[in-house]
Amino acid sequence: MNNDTLILAVESSCDETSVSIIENGTTIKSNIVLSQIESHKRFGGVVPEVASRHHVEGITTTIDKALNEAQVTMEDIDAVAVTQGPGLIGALLVGINAAKALAFAYDKPLIPVHHIAGHIYANNLEEGMNFPLIALIVSGGHTELIYMKDHLSFEIIGETRDDAVGEAYDKVARTLGLSYPGGPQIDHLASKGNDTYNFPRVWLEKDSYDFSFSGLKSAVINALHNQRQKNQTIIDADVATSFQNSVVEVLVGKAIQACKAYGVKELIVAGGVASNSGLRNELTKACEANNIHLAIPSAKLCTDNGAMIGAAAHYLYLNNVSANMDLNGDSGLDLEYFVDEV
Ligand code: KG4
Ligand code: ZN
Repeated sequence: MNNDTLILAVESSCDETSVSIIENGTTIKSNIVLSQIESHKRFGGVVPEVASRHHVEGITTTIDKALNEAQVTMEDIDAVAVTQGPGLIGALLVGINAAKALAFAYDKPLIPVHHIAGHIYANNLEEGMNFPLIALIVSGGHTELIYMKDHLSFEIIGETRDDAVGEAYDKVARTLGLSYPGGPQIDHLASKGNDTYNFPRVWLEKDSYDFSFSGLKSAVINALHNQRQKNQTIIDADVATSFQNSVVEVLVGKAIQACKAYGVKELIVAGGVASNSGLRNELTKACEANNIHLAIPSAKLCTDNGAMIGAAAHYLYLNNVSANMDLNGDSGLDLEYFVDEV
């Protein structure tokens, strides 16, 4: 008898249609990701209606590809997992309806997963998770510090009060005339410039783990505006380096402060901005200096994917967490309570 647990996981919360087959919460049998970035580029950002349409067009073939690549059939699958939220509601509903259809037709449990829980559990697909830990979530929609004392226990100890860090990257990139998503391009430019602007570091109140990036974004936009009015030459790489230094210094400072205050020895970093090379370098140095183990998933598991949803779903499956056929998408799903509410 085969005791391995196979979960088919669907992610469609933003601009990636992804389906993955995960074995025992740790092994990727397949992870198909259909990116819509090229389609959204011409609009300078993700257009919700366009995203929903692309998910509808791609979901069935993505499911077939994931099963084929893993060389399994729906009969072999133990449960169907899906991102319930947060995210774009129309986009979420495409994945949820596909997952419901599969769960109903093949009589499998349906497991709803919080998108951020997925980003954190991406680490279980590579080097594992050692509790207690602090997770730093840095993506296009989220900037959060989360304390986890055990599996499925999430305490948000800090979050952004305005823009998410990826959003700030994308807006600054746009001001420099770079295409969407601008984060990776700013990261690339930042390695070539100098910190000539000395933008503010926004620490907020002492001991606060919250973040704020809208003031920094305005400082960058104002500086560029002034220079353009005076016909001064703008060195894009210097703007990128100065902006990135400000962001990274605060993210690293608060993450390390949180690890010390909560007495944890592991820092997990997740979300699209976790691929940022400046952030990775500075976190590596700071964690080494403070004897903290740093875990960052490889780049392909940092951006949205079904595998991370399957990895988180495994622990929900072990705890018999499942939803009924009336499961709905929730664009503002709460991370701390989503397990209790199912
Ligand atoms: O996690 P993700 O794929 O989607 C969300 O759930 O938001 O994150 C996408 C975000 C975008 O804002 C993108 O510009 C940013 O991650 N990003 C980066 C880098 N790679 C992706 N930002 C800074 N440096 C990077 N290397
Ligand atoms: Zn994400």
